[in-house]
Parts: sequence; structure tokens; C-alpha cells
Amino acid sequence: MKVFKKIDEIRKYIKEQQKEGKTIGLVPTMGYLHEGHLSLIKKSSEENNITVVSIFVNPTQFGENEDLDQYPRDLERDVKLAEKANATAIFASEAEEIYPKGYQTYVNVKHLTKHLCGLRRPGHFKGVTTIVTKLFNIINPDKAYFGQKDAQQAIVIKRMVKDLNLDIEIVVCPIVRESDGLAKSSRNTYLSKEERNQSTVLFLSLMIAKQMIEDGERHAVVIKKSIEKNIKNESLAEIDYVSISNIETLKEIEVIKGEVLIALAVKIGNTRLIDNIQLEVNDVN
Ligand code: PAF
Repeated sequence: MKVFKKIDEIRKYIKEQQKEGKTIGLVPTMGYLHEGHLSLIKKSSEENNITVVSIFVNPTQFGENEDLDQYPRDLERDVKLAEKANATAIFASEAEEIYPKGYQTYVNVKHLTKHLCGLRRPGHFKGVTTIVTKLFNIINPDKAYFGQKDAQQAIVIKRMVKDLNLDIEIVVCPIVRESDGLAKSSRNTYLSKEERNQSTVLFLSLMIAKQMIEDGERHAVVIKKSIEKNIKNESLAEIDYVSISNIETLKEIEVIKGEVLIALAVKIGNTRLIDNIQLEVNDVN
């Protein structure tokens, strides 16, 4: 398995592969790989000749008081895991290579980034869309793979690809969960034992919401209240947001109808966790 640190070197490698007619899949990550990432790598390796995993803890998507310095890093471990999942190459560069002195250009998706996590983490998505565009330009993939756990991120990236006419297929893969429902995340490593026990409240709350909808509830406000009540009763988590939105616009909805995203973000101790489910509700009146 090849590990590249320099942009010029990976570009040369990619060009050689493409000359031989090989297709390229890209799995962008911030490292500390877990089974969610590995499912993306496996999917890419099934669908492409070459799978490049990028590993870069992107400073521009972290706010001032966020966990940039604390974010877990272990390249040696990641290389082994990626190789086992059938990755062909790793692109693991340093911040100075990606954002050299004098850097001043950003990509911004205007409206979709104003909701959900965008409200709580100003500038976060601008950092994400900028690094993802840069990775797309460096790796020039046919397909790129993202996890459904970061639902808003996937929606924003799809919009960006469409708006900028990028010739890349975005593949969104299902959330991989622990046996008790907690969505896999590199940030789960921050949780103490007690916090880990409480963290199941995210998935369980989403399941309550799903059941309410299956039982006929259509008022978003009633479902949101029920989620909030469950989180408060079952944990010490601090609610960041509970959102029920239209999947295309990410605007909050009042009535459950069509394709709906139910998403939440909570802080358990110092760890901010997110989770979501998507549902399609087509009532025949
Ligand atoms: O989802 C992530 O890990 C990051 O936001 C991404 C897409 C790798 C950009 O840094």
C-alpha cells in the first residue's frame, strides 16, 4: 500500500493509474478510522480499480473552541486498517501542504449550510467544502464516498458538486452502528464509560420518533418534544438541536410529509455527538 504525503506525488501516481484506464474512488476522512470508514473503503474498492483514502484533520472546519488539537490521530493504525479494507493508497498530508502561507480561497454553499450543524458551528461547512474541493482537484476521482451519519455534510457536498459541475459521483453509505445503536464515530473515543452508556439516548430517541410516525403522528413539534423529553429523562446530555427538516432544503417542517430528515446533536460531557434517520412519508388522503 502506498502512502503519499505530497500533492505532486499523489497526482503523478493518479495520472499513471488513469493512463492505464483505471477508475479512482476517493474516501475522504480525518483519520482514526472506524468501521464506518471501513465500510466506505470496502464499497469504493468494489466499485473502482483504485481506492484512495485521504487522512487529514482539516483545521478550517474546526471552530475556535472545538477539538482540533484533541482530535485522535494514529496514521500507522489507519494505514493497517485501510489496507485490510482493500484501500490502494493513502494521501496523508500536513496542514502546510494543503494550506500554504498566503492561502485565502474558500468554497461556500450558501443556504444549506445555514441550518442544523451550520447554525451551531459557523464556518464549519465552508471548511468542509473547501477541503473536499481541494481533495477532488488533487485526486480527480470518478466517485467519492461519504457516510450518512454526517447527513448535512453529504447533502451540502452533493449540492456543491452539482453547482460547480464537478464530474464526480457522490456515493452516500449507510450509518454503521454499535450493537446498542450508537453511530460509529472517531469522537466516541472521548466518551467515559458513564458517558458511553448515556450515548445510546441518541439512537433510542430517533427510534421513538420513527415509531411515532409509523403510528400516525404527523406534527413535527410533537415528535421533537418527545425526543427532547426522552433525552432529558434518560441522560445528562445537553441538547444542541433536534431537527425535523425537508431533506432537500434542510428547512424545518411542521408536518411530516415526503422525504424527511430527523437529526439531532447533543453534548455528552464535552463530546458533541450527532445522529439522524431519514424517512419517506407519503400519505394518501
Ligand atoms: O467527514 C469527515 O471526516 C470530514 O468532514 C471530511 C469530509 C473528511 C472533510 O474533512
